Amino acid sequence: MMKAYRASILRFNDAAPQDQCAVYEADGLLVVGPNAAGLQVVVAVGNYASLAPQFPDLDVEHFPGRIISPGFVDMHVHYPQLDVIGSPADGLLPWLENYTFPEEKRFVTPEYSAQAASFFIAELLRNGVTTALAFATSHVASVNALFAEAQHKGLRLITGKCLMDQHVPDGVRDTTEQSLLDTEALINQWHSAGRLGYAITPRFVCSCSAAQLSGAGELAAKYPDVWIQSHVAENFEEIAWVKRLYPTSRSYLSVYEQFGLLRPKAVYAHCIHFDDADRALMHSSGTAAAVCPTSNLFLGSGFFDYAGADQAGFAYGLASDVGGGTSFSPFHTMLAAYYVGRVGQTKQGLSLSPQHLWWQHTAGAAKAIGLQGVAGNLQVGCDADFVVLNPQATPLLARRMARANSLDELLFALIVMGDDRVIEKTVLA
Ligand code: GUN
Ligand code: ZN
Repeated sequence: MMKAYRASILRFNDAAPQDQCAVYEADGLLVVGPNAAGLQVVVAVGNYASLAPQFPDLDVEHFPGRIISPGFVDMHVHYPQLDVIGSPADGLLPWLENYTFPEEKRFVTPEYSAQAASFFIAELLRNGVTTALAFATSHVASVNALFAEAQHKGLRLITGKCLMDQHVPDGVRDTTEQSLLDTEALINQWHSAGRLGYAITPRFVCSCSAAQLSGAGELAAKYPDVWIQSHVAENFEEIAWVKRLYPTSRSYLSVYEQFGLLRPKAVYAHCIHFDDADRALMHSSGTAAAVCPTSNLFLGSGFFDYAGADQAGFAYGLASDVGGGTSFSPFHTMLAAYYVGRVGQTKQGLSLSPQHLWWQHTAGAAKAIGLQGVAGNLQVGCDADFVVLNPQATPLLARRMARANSLDELLFALIVMGDDRVIEKTVLA
């Protein structure tokens, strides 16, 4: 069954310059219909007056005064960390030790995992997130629970069992050989089942033995279509620890290279404390960065170098990193990214444009994780995952919108003042 939606419509042209990549129809029509797999995809999109006559018999749902945007893509989020959001610590390592690992121990049971998975996915949808690359815990039960819930809800979700066989407490530590057997079994069970994807998930260098990283690299070579997700260069104490573990490696990032863990569809969170050689390695290996600004500000980790990333030309996009991150809302994440551009750059402060910020959390994030033309956009052929936004959701937003004289002003006001109240509806293909 084909169906159409009339509203203002935002989509993106990936080939356009960063600050002019948005394509906006003030009075637009989005026509969707089923593909061979039975998913709703975009059949046509454009100006209402010119497109509507081509579809005379279509059922059109009208959202006056509303904006349809591609659903947001969260490139890095931890579903087992719902209950540790807002736990203050002197940086990453004490935060993991005191709050995160104790909470993650609970995911050993399918029941605990299932209730968290259900809340987590509801929260993503309430915030307009329609694609997520998520960490589970080291327990197989946590992975099964999240995949099952995503399948039930029809969400595009990529996750995997955390690999962590050293330097972490009892209850979350796994064992080398079994963790790799479990990973391969989970790949075979879940990868490419409908909208689900598997990510080989070595937590970070410190928590994985060389044998475990090596096994993860072998699986990454055997299953090139599967994702890889991990953390890198987030925090100075973490980096010093990696240096002690691998004194002869050129850098933290190059340890992952050594084990065959940098390639297209590999996504590394943070990527803060990089040098030029690291940035070149990201680019040459086709690896993507998940930029996590609320987490990096909250834990005091540092600032992502936007200018350096653009100069090297490696792919990146935005992520909440809940629970190190402080919010599920893509608006809060985009605003934090803007702050990072202003104050966190080595040279002059940047003013990241609203179009570029929005792209980083939709089409740009999808492109970075290998889903260009599939997710995060509303061009013809993309999955019909979208949000209906109410730009007048609060009195102050309504007042500010009345003065918005351009697309940039409109998008900026939403980024600065928006939150879950703006998300009126989230539609999954
Ligand atoms: N490094 C290793 N594990 C984690 C985690 O759970 N959160 C963050 N922010 N960094 C990590
Ligand atoms: Zn993380």
